[in-house]
Amino acid sequence: MQSAICPHRPPATGGRAHRSYLEAGAVPASLPYIRRHTRRTLAAWEVGPAADDVELMTSELVTNAIAATLAMTPPGALVALYLAMEAGLLSVLVWDCCPEQPVHRAQAGADAESGRGLGIVQAVSERWGTVALEGGKVVWAQLALTNQEAM
Ligand SMILES: Nc1ncnc2c1ncn2[C@@H]1O[C@H](COP(=O)(O)OP(=O)(O)OP(=O)(O)O)[C@@H](O)[C@H]1O
Ligand SMILES: [Mg+2]
Repeated sequence: MQSAICPHRPPATGGRAHRSYLEAGAVPASLPYIRRHTRRTLAAWEVGPAADDVELMTSELVTNAIAATLAMTPPGALVALYLAMEAGLLSVLVWDCCPEQPVHRAQAGADAESGRGLGIVQAVSERWGTVALEGGKVVWAQLALTNQEAM
């Protein structure tokens, strides 16, 4: 994916850099597979306690990507997940082929039956955003790791 999707960071001068890319069918049955992949990847990277938040925002973003894809394409489309950890920053990027942009409704409260996912992403991440691409878009979120988690 293009480096312009996320805010620029200088190359890591210490610590480790990790990358993971996964594609899966845009169907609800892919969710457990993607969650499992995320959990195992973050464990292998020794992300530590922040892994719960990363898993949560990944799950919300992928759930949205699958729902948006299913709403506009016949079965067979893919969603993609890119995870990166570098210079103390954990990035989650989720691609789908739907050109519509996410709409975050800030007023969705605890009792709302829907409209809470992006609020969770916003609460858990340091920043999130979306980038329109030819043939789809990427919704991304980033979380800064503490020194201990990043080392
Ligand atoms: N990847 C996406 N592509 C297109 N539209 C999206 C995408 N993600 C979110 N949206 C739009 O933004 C709205 C808000 O998303 P959000 O995750 O906050 O709530 P929700 O998915 O409707 O409900 P919940 O996540 O609480 O089950 C969605 O209803 C959808 O219209
Ligand atoms: Mg949602």
